[in-house]
Amino acid sequence: MDEHSNIDSIFDKYLDEDNPIFINREILSPNYVPEYLPHREDKFEEMAKILGPALRGGSPSNIFIYGTTGTGKTAVTKYVLKKLKKKADEREIEFSFSFFNCQHIDTKYRVFAQLCDDIAVDVPFTGLHFDIVYQKFKEGLDELKTLHIIVLDEVDSLYRKSTESLYILTRLNSELVQSKIGIIGITNDVNFKETLDPRIRSSLSEEEIVFSPYTAEQLKDILNQRVEKALNKDALEFGVLNLCAAIGAQQHGDARRSIDLLRVAAELAEREGAEKVTELHVRKAQQVIERNTVVEVLSSLPIQTKAVLQAIFIGESKSEELNTGDVYDIYSSICKLIRLDRLTPRRVSDLINELDMLGLVTARVISKGRYGRSKRINLTIPKAQVKEILEKDFRLSKVFEENSV
Ligand SMILES: Nc1ncnc2c1ncn2[C@@H]1O[C@H](COP(=O)(O)OP(=O)(O)OP(=O)(O)O)[C@@H](O)[C@H]1O
Ligand SMILES: [Mg+2]
Repeated sequence: MDEHSNIDSIFDKYLDEDNPIFINREILSPNYVPEYLPHREDKFEEMAKILGPALRGGSPSNIFIYGTTGTGKTAVTKYVLKKLKKKADEREIEFSFSFFNCQHIDTKYRVFAQLCDDIAVDVPFTGLHFDIVYQKFKEGLDELKTLHIIVLDEVDSLYRKSTESLYILTRLNSELVQSKIGIIGITNDVNFKETLDPRIRSSLSEEEIVFSPYTAEQLKDILNQRVEKALNKDALEFGVLNLCAAIGAQQHGDARRSIDLLRVAAELAEREGAEKVTELHVRKAQQVIERNTVVEVLSSLPIQTKAVLQAIFIGESKSEELNTGDVYDIYSSICKLIRLDRLTPRRVSDLINELDMLGLVTARVISKGRYGRSKRINLTIPKAQVKEILEKDFRLSKVFEENSV
């Protein structure tokens, strides 16, 4: 027998035309954006009202968009700009735009190098002096006599990494003569506006659009729209869509969560060779997704916070009741063992609070102990998971060995 026939049959199963579950799995993937986005007509309109007059030569207002994660901010903004571009082309009006995901840019050089690229002005990706790149963009844009919209998605990230970029961008219009720019800043950080430098804030938020969380009913429509093209008609057991929508609604009305749940549930059903996706698959999918989020959160913690979490882990393995003082003692011995700077009890208490806010531990006030008010600390996530991730840090893995836990 061909030694690969096994693999072949696995591929066949996924490619098979009469797959009982999927017609087109792409449609449930995170990158797929449907032609039409239900329940956001009011947002299209708000944006169109602000941007439309600028196309006719008026001054564009900058727009600040905020709302919790998965409420369609990115998708709607891209959609509106695409439509606007099409309209402008039809009417032969000069219009262009740049789209930044600010998580991937960190210097003013990178920002302006990409801007140059978007209007076909040639600059190398590194090497020039910033002032030259800036000048080239300004002159290049002015020659085009155009309206250029700059979208800064996840703008909070740019503000943290390069406040200056944002400052320069908000000043750019006053340096242009024949062209105009408009900025659309997007964030899911509700506190971001308050932390902004007042000069940037007033410029960035000339207009504001708030994306409210989707209700369960709206999420159901959003799911239904994709289901028709993605899944076989009979592949869903009654109640599956309602459950995915209800869980998304609980998670701050998050469409991404609802769609992810349905996709992962359908994949689990497929892998089991089931004929239908059931509510049980959705529950399992929820665990898979939550587990992945916990892994992400844990992995990205700074080493000091990881050391505190490890102290809680070790403490819990050794005694039932763990308070702030116990955690600090174990934390101190970890620092000594791996030569980590030891933070003050006060700081460690703050880190415990952070872990509590992330939902990784619970800290309940119990009494005034040795270190002031003491708290009872408990891990809220499975111990095996915590250990698996902390062990990936070679310093902390040494601590596990020494403590034989
Ligand atoms: N009204 C809608 N109709 C159909 N799909 C939608 C709708 N709103 C959001 N989605 C889908 O949900 C997912 C999340 O949307 P999007 O990325 O726009 O959220 P976001 O508000 O930008 O979230 P974040 O703050 O995390 O960046 C995407 O896959 C998007 O296509
Ligand atoms: Mg987004």
